[in-house]
Amino acid sequence: MEVRRVGVEPLRPGPPHIAVGLIFSVLFGVWSAQGLEMSVGKVLSLEAVNGSTVMLPCTYSSCIGIHNLYFNWQFNDNGTMHKVCESVIASEGVEPEVSIYRERVEFVGKNRNNNISILLWNITFEDGGQYTCFGRNPKEKDKNHSATFTLIVVDELRVVDNTLTIIIASAVGGAIALLMGFMLLKNFTLFVLAKLEEKNKECLVTSSGIDNTENGLSGSKADSKPTPKKK
Ligand SMILES: *[C@@H]1O[C@H](CO)[C@@H](O)[C@H](O)[C@H]1NC(C)=O
Ligand SMILES: *[C@@H]1O[C@H](CO)[C@@H](O)[C@H](O)[C@H]1NC(C)=O
Ligand SMILES: *[C@@H]1O[C@H](CO)[C@@H](O)[C@H](O)[C@H]1NC(C)=O
Ligand SMILES: *[C@@H]1O[C@H](CO)[C@@H](O)[C@H](O)[C@H]1NC(C)=O
Ligand SMILES: *[C@@H]1O[C@H](CO)[C@@H](O)[C@H](O)[C@H]1NC(C)=O
Repeated sequence: MEVRRVGVEPLRPGPPHIAVGLIFSVLFGVWSAQGLEMSVGKVLSLEAVNGSTVMLPCTYSSCIGIHNLYFNWQFNDNGTMHKVCESVIASEGVEPEVSIYRERVEFVGKNRNNNISILLWNITFEDGGQYTCFGRNPKEKDKNHSATFTLIVVDELRVVDNTLTIIIASAVGGAIALLMGFMLLKNFTLFVLAKLEEKNKECLVTSSGIDNTENGLSGSKADSKPTPKKK
């Protein structure tokens, strides 16, 4: 009996505990949603020809504000992360001094509108891969936030493929347009023919008002017959 009571009673305070936990997690969820967020934009990857210069976009946003926000860009080189650049932003709108660890990299964000984008000059095939924009706001107990952008470096040959697909697409589009035009023309011709026929019928009707239809028809037949005979 005693064992059963012990077994039953701890279950009773269960539901309030769950409710408290739920409320806490909801509040925590809301709080963490208001924290720092890193974003590379809606487009998560970019295809660029080797030798070109590309921008890797990244912005941050924080509803609770920032103070000494640490950020960096990392390059995932076959599993190992290499720091591309890093800096600390004292507060919003302040241009940070950025340390750059990779060649042909330029910091162009200047922290304008929370912009911490970088530019990659004259990219090579080795530059292709995943770039992570990382941020940590001390106001948020140093929680880590990041967003990843993928750069795909392609040869110029791929551009030819694109023009080919454009040619195919425009050819298909042109064919469809031609078909539609033809169908429109056909419908229009049929419409005109129908109208002409209607007019003819009207003529026949009006003529029949004067004469009998049979007479009118025979008359027209008689009219058409003599013409071939003349030739
Ligand atoms: C692309 O890379 C190839 C081989 O690495 C090189 O020969 C070529 O010049 C590069 N193209 C451009 C536009 O830099
Ligand atoms: C990545 O690493 C594997 C072995 O860990 C190696 O075989 C492969 O060539 C590497 N790829 C590049 C692109 O470095
Ligand atoms: C990129 O290439 C151009 C022309 O090849 C060169 O003038 C320029 O200095 C290069 N930029 C960097 C940052 O290497
Ligand atoms: C960030 O700054 C760069 C350089 O000034 C600009 O080209 C880019 O459009 C900016 N991005 C955003 C999201 O404001
Ligand atoms: C945040 O990332 C750093 C490495 O950049 C790591 O040392 C630290 O443990 C991470 N913190 C959390 C809360 O994940």
